[in-house]
Amino acid sequence: MQPGSLVIVAALLAGPALAEPDPERGASLATQCAGCHADAAGEAIHAFRDMDPESFTAAMQAYRNGERTHIAMRMFAGALEPSEFDDLAAWLAEEDTQ
Ligand code: HEC
Repeated sequence: MQPGSLVIVAALLAGPALAEPDPERGASLATQCAGCHADAAGEAIHAFRDMDPESFTAAMQAYRNGERTHIAMRMFAGALEPSEFDDLAAWLAEEDTQ
């Protein structure tokens, strides 16, 4: 292996790490959902906090691509980047461990 190719391998390994789902970003994104998804006591109304991360991401994608038609959720899911679904899912995964 050429010394140069090691640099490329290192760059490839470092690349995806930058796009790693970030639970803290997810937690901060989730504040915009609380208006509808939590009551004043912080209890879930339309619970997504208890969803497993895979079902959550699938639901968000379904709102985004129109498979699910609820108008408010289509708007919210459409305003987020798919990578932000992953941030929220990472946050949910952390909530699961509590
Ligand atoms: C304007 C109110 C409102 C806001 C704000 C809102 N939601 Fe929702 N959400 C709803 C309603 C109402 C439903 C049930 C819709 C349906 O019947 O499909 C729902 C459903 C969902 C579901 C599907 C739950 C399931 O059991 O399948 C997920 C996931 C979800 N919301 C995530 C979010 C996230 C993440 C945010 C913030 C980015 C958010 N919502 C913001 C009102 C809202």
